[in-house]
Amino acid sequence: MIKLSHVSKEYPRRGHALRDVSFHIRKGEFAFLTGHSGSGKSTTLRLIHMADRPSEGEVRVSGYSSERVTERDLWKVRRRVGFVFQDFRLLPGRTALENVAFVLEVTGTPQRAIQPKAQRLLAQVGLAPKVGADVNELSGGEQQRVAIARALANDPYVLLADEPTGNLDDRATRGVMDLFWDINAKGMAVLMATHDLEVMRRHPIARVLELDPGRPVYDSEAAERPGAEEADLPGAEEAEPTGTKAPEPAVDAPATAPTAVESAVGPSEAGGEPTP
Ligand SMILES: Nc1ncnc2c1ncn2[C@@H]1O[C@H](COP(=O)(O)OP(=O)(O)O)[C@@H](O)[C@H]1O
Ligand SMILES: [Mg+2]
Repeated sequence: MIKLSHVSKEYPRRGHALRDVSFHIRKGEFAFLTGHSGSGKSTTLRLIHMADRPSEGEVRVSGYSSERVTERDLWKVRRRVGFVFQDFRLLPGRTALENVAFVLEVTGTPQRAIQPKAQRLLAQVGLAPKVGADVNELSGGEQQRVAIARALANDPYVLLADEPTGNLDDRATRGVMDLFWDINAKGMAVLMATHDLEVMRRHPIARVLELDPGRPVYDSEAAERPGAEEADLPGAEEAEPTGTKAPEPAVDAPATAPTAVESAVGPSEAGGEPTP
């Protein structure tokens, strides 16, 4: 479903953030992407979100290839990759419901479906009693749940999370991790960047992929299941053939919508300043 093949990413003047990274995330998988600060975790997630293109190699997401994706398809695929950030990135001064409804609106959900769907998403993350609360009045854990509900709004193929527990206390961290496991148990793949060893220790059945500056140095799956790495050989493609059409939301967003989605949910609005 997600496949990186010999992916490198070079930033002008900064050199390589990633160098020859290959891995494959299957439907329904739960994987941690770990490594020290600066090892390339966020860069990897941005490439999978197709917010950025690799300098070399190929990123495939549900049949779309970074090498061939058109501008129009780019937005289709980006809309279907849920993204959760360390700092939540909610619209301040708006309610939980408005935050989720906004994304549904800009991605073209029919007007009368928006409220019920936003309610259902917030109920799914355990926030039914807080739908009308201003997000500024919610705890960190609750804010992250709103962000997760928002990430689930367009029925994503995969949920990407970049250090989603980095700003949370231990109790909120456990709650958010339980929620990710719930979501994963319903069949959604989750790829979570973290350098929190304690979080990973508490979830020993998850796959662990480790980067050490920009290079893949460990994959628990390849380590524990001899032959597993064969899945990454050319020709061992997963069930989705090249060019498979992704199922579409009921109504297509207007051409200007992606910019709004981008600013609401996309990682590239973070601007050019890299994390040191
Ligand atoms: N937009 C950018 N422009 C230039 N360099 C970047 C950019 N984003 C990341 N980098 C550099 O790429 C490397 C990996 O960064 P990053 O992916 O943020 O790592 P991590 O998320 O593991 O901390 C770092 O050296 C970082 O400075
Ligand atoms: Mg990062």
